[in-house]
This record gives sequence, structure tokens and C-alpha cells, in this order.
Amino acid sequence: MLSWRINRTLDSLIGRVERSTALDPVADRLATLVSKPLYASTGLRNTLSGTAAGHPLHPVLVVVPLGSWIGASYLDLAGGKQGQAAATKLVGLGIAAAIPAALTGVNDWVDTTLAERRVGLVHALGNQLALGLYAGSWFARRRQRQGVGAALAAAGAVTLGVTGWLGGHLSYARGVGVDTTAFDHANEEWVDVLREDELADDQPTLVYNGKLPVLLVRTGGQLYAIADRCTHRGGPLHEGELADGCITCPWHFSKFRVSDGQVLAGPATRNQRAYEVRTRYGSIQLRHTDEPGSLRTNPVS
Ligand code: FES
Repeated sequence: MLSWRINRTLDSLIGRVERSTALDPVADRLATLVSKPLYASTGLRNTLSGTAAGHPLHPVLVVVPLGSWIGASYLDLAGGKQGQAAATKLVGLGIAAAIPAALTGVNDWVDTTLAERRVGLVHALGNQLALGLYAGSWFARRRQRQGVGAALAAAGAVTLGVTGWLGGHLSYARGVGVDTTAFDHANEEWVDVLREDELADDQPTLVYNGKLPVLLVRTGGQLYAIADRCTHRGGPLHEGELADGCITCPWHFSKFRVSDGQVLAGPATRNQRAYEVRTRYGSIQLRHTDEPGSLRTNPVS
């Protein structure tokens, strides 16, 4: 019953944050400030996004500070005097590990908008508060004030519980970091999408496979088709720039190879679905037969 009440309280808090347009001026200004150095370096962007790993890095990196700080609190409670030195080290390790975790989080956050950006801002500010509490805890422990150090760590843990809830909401309820095409189910049969003579060379063109938007292009005399909705945040790839056999997303500039959908530059971490293409009687047809997942647009069907 208590957990249900906590759940409802946090849900109502999140709803208020999501609708709080008063946060927008601060959030937008911060995002503009931070995005400048991020957008200036493709290498930095790829690294912080987890493009090479094929998975967002932020959820992976947060495990280290969280685990360290939880371990420290456990030692505070059950480690006695013998556990004090180890608890101090764990708090310090958590502080060091929080820095790359925060950087990856900020990198993900700059590409959000509206409700996600507001919740992300509060999530980040709460995490800064927690980091400050753990820094205070570390200094107190170094001065042999173990009781104060343990109390500050406990306050940090409570703060992290709330910010962790917000982070989970961003991923599980708002889909930040989720492949936006994860639930798409492509047609496995050949589908007519366009007359051959309606497609101009080197002109990214939007067609549909059932209800799914597909980017169709003829370049170098070859026809290619990949999912049009960017796996990052859903940008329309047919509005992007085509160069050297690659399409650049117009929203945050991820780059994908049109021949196979391979992501070549982040912030996207997932490849675009590539379709088989053929021509029959002057008509361009496409299909996609390699569907590995079971969870699709209508998961119960
Ligand atoms: S939507 Fe972000 S890079 Fe395409």
C-alpha cells in the first residue's frame, strides 16, 4: 500500500514537471549552450552516444556510481568500524564514475524536447544534488566524521531514488534512448511503392510500405530503400541530405548508409532497417523479410 502511494505521488510529480512550461527558458538555453561543443565534434558525439557500441551509453555507465554508493550505504549500515575505509573509497569511486555518466546523460538530453526535456532537466539537477551530497559525505569521512558522512550518503541515496525514477520514466514511458522503429512491422510480401519514371536520380523520396514510411533513393544507378523514420528520435530521413551514398538526418545529423542502413555517425546508435528493392513492369517494389523480433506495432496479435 505504501509503495502504491509513493508510486502515485511520483507519477503526479512527473506529470506536473512534464507540463511545467516555466522550465523551458532555462532548459532551452542550457541545451543550446551544451549542444555547441557536442555538435562540433562527431567523435565526441559518437562516443558519448554509444554509436559504436550500438547501444546508448548512459544507462550502462550509471550502474557504476549507483553500485558504489549503494555499497557504501550498505557498509555504513552493516560494516561497522572495519567497513569505514572501504565505504569512503566506494563513495569516492562513485563520485569519479558519476562524471562520465553525467556527460553521456547530458549528450542524450540535448536532443530531447518539451516534456522529455523538462523531466530530463529535473533528473539532471537532482543528480547534481545527489553528487553534491556524496561529495560532502566523502569530505566528512576523510575528516573522520563518519556519522555525518553516512547521513549525507543516505540523503544522496534518497535523492537518487527519485532521480532514478525520473530516468526510468524517460526511457520506459517516453522512449528516450529507445529505437523509434522498434515496434514497426514491415510487409514481407513485395509491395508496389512507386513508378520507376517517378523517381529522380539522387533524390531521397518518401514512399510507404503499408503504413511504414520508407526512404527510397536511386544513386549510382542502384535502388536502395531504408526505413525513413530515424532510429534516434524519429527524424524524417527523406528530408535529409544525400551525399556519398549516405543520408544525414535533418534533426540531429546522424548519418546512415543507404545501401544497408548502417549508422556511420551518431547520435543514433541503431541501424535503419534496409529493404529489398526490385523493379517489375516499370514499378518499384520493396519488401522486408528479416524480422527477428516478436514485439511489434500490435504486440498482442
Ligand atoms: S532524429 Fe536524431 S539524428 Fe535523426
